[in-house]
Amino acid sequence: MCGIVGYAGARPCKDILFRGLRKLEYRGYDSAGISIIGDGRFELLHSVGNLDNLEAILDRMGDAGTLGIAHTRWATHGRPSTENAHPHTDCTGRFAIVLNGIVENYLRLRAALQGEGHSFTSETDAEVVAHLIERAYRGSLREAVVEAYRQMEGHFTFCAIAVEEPDVIVGIRKETPLVVGLSDGENFMASAIPAFLAETRSVVFPEDGDVVVVGRDAVEIFDLYGAPVDRPVQTIDWDDEAAEKAGYETFMLKEIHEQPVALADTLAERIGPDGRVVLDGLGLDAETVRALQRIVIVACGTSYHAGLVGKYALERWARLPVEVEVASEFRYRDPVIGPGCLCIAISQSGETADTLAAMRLARQAGAQVLALTNIVGSQATREADGVLFTRAGLEIGVAATKTFLTQVLATLLFALWLGERRGLMDGERVRGFTEELRRIPALLSDYLEDGAAGRVELVAARYAARRFFMVLGRNIGLPVALEGALKLKEISYVPTEAYAAGEMKHGPIALLEEGSPVLVVATDSRVYDKLISNVQEVKARGARIIAVASEGNEGLAEMADETFLVPRTDEMLAPLLSVVPLQLFAYYVAKARGEKVDQPRNLAKTVTVE
Ligand code: F6R
Repeated sequence: MCGIVGYAGARPCKDILFRGLRKLEYRGYDSAGISIIGDGRFELLHSVGNLDNLEAILDRMGDAGTLGIAHTRWATHGRPSTENAHPHTDCTGRFAIVLNGIVENYLRLRAALQGEGHSFTSETDAEVVAHLIERAYRGSLREAVVEAYRQMEGHFTFCAIAVEEPDVIVGIRKETPLVVGLSDGENFMASAIPAFLAETRSVVFPEDGDVVVVGRDAVEIFDLYGAPVDRPVQTIDWDDEAAEKAGYETFMLKEIHEQPVALADTLAERIGPDGRVVLDGLGLDAETVRALQRIVIVACGTSYHAGLVGKYALERWARLPVEVEVASEFRYRDPVIGPGCLCIAISQSGETADTLAAMRLARQAGAQVLALTNIVGSQATREADGVLFTRAGLEIGVAATKTFLTQVLATLLFALWLGERRGLMDGERVRGFTEELRRIPALLSDYLEDGAAGRVELVAARYAARRFFMVLGRNIGLPVALEGALKLKEISYVPTEAYAAGEMKHGPIALLEEGSPVLVVATDSRVYDKLISNVQEVKARGARIIAVASEGNEGLAEMADETFLVPRTDEMLAPLLSVVPLQLFAYYVAKARGEKVDQPRNLAKTVTVE
């Protein structure tokens, strides 16, 4: 949440910083600002709303600055306004800072600073940082940053610049992301790699408490006591085009269409020539696998839904009890967890505050922790015993699509791997599934190329004005229904309920009226007949049925008012296909309602606050 970018180099930097912000806009878009140092003074620009508003006034800023910091905000403390937009400055106007995260003790700090005569101009928690630096400054920005950091509680990243030190940006992180980009005669600092991917792929990931001093010709990292720290330089293999829309009207639509490639990449080299699943880096040796008694999956939002798919697969193939927990609840209960338990933390960003906290709790209790994430170098990868990477590439649309699909695939692969390691699935049975998995990217690609989006768009247009949707599923179709409903809620803002179809008559069926649209995930499965009985009950109440069904299922097509046919596959793999028409349906309902699909209200892509 919130995007930070900093640049130190020889080129005029306001446009470089702005372009960096554009790549981070998915992290927050309610206000923005830039501060550069030029001709021995700060220039500052703030705007409310998304980055178009900042762009419109960018020429008010001079071109002299070759070092600066910039920020795009997702409001936590203080409403979106020019006063609350970052960068914030101190009383003397000598220091500017940008912050991502939350300073939990800011009220105490603010009161103390006000008592000493500091005056504040915003309602934010972030502004205290500028004043703390002002108070601590004795000729070294690095030392003043450390002094400020020591007094702050919470989880945050901040970067600071000082008029008196126009050649450096100093940044520090605590449990929220900060990455450094290295180039020739210029260097970058940011919340996420896309901010500088057009300029460099050489990246350093500082650790918590590293004090990062970014200059034009060098980047130095120190610990809190001033001793130099060495962090490896890594090369990132994403390319900058991933952060462009490539002719699609939105990132979300592009990312839906990238799903076949994302699946193929996530599968690559994970199925051996003998059809067995090959997974490295899980941190699970034979003895740990033998000692496993249960699995707890922790995650939030869409990742939680991927975890639910994982539960069905792990229980069926690896025969271990699996609980799937919303991380924000898990972390504040007294969960019964310890040795013999595997905690799988699913987080596309690897930075979600609640998921990280749940992981830590599990680890402290003695459980083995496996992170399932899309982001190399993310916090989750640093805190887990092992990592299973999805390879979805960069996802910018706030509503997750391709990261969900690859999470589902990764949990299926893991369940097959574990089933075999536990001696519960023989090689032939595993091969049956892996051969089918290999077919899925092509099946999905054909489905999308064959005009699926256009067909869904036509149906969505007919229902876009509805004020309520219900989505039903059973068994492994239930997580798909939940995910389809979440997509509708977050981008179209239409209230949507998702239910296990068998639960309908225990209450929710009362919501239905003549004509209520009910989406049903009805691909082939062992509970198909049961599901059809539930559909009949719903239909008998006058609901209109929009079914996602397996190709060739003409019977259902006759019963439903609308049918989205998806390619036939094994029932356990069906979520990899059946969720796609629901993503498209949510997308086109939102478009028909005139909503901003890539920037849904109140949301941000990476939730680094509780
Ligand atoms: C929904 C969505 C969110 C995220 C959730 C967890 O489309 O994207 O619900 O799934 O915020 O994020 P990660 O996976 O980064 O932990």
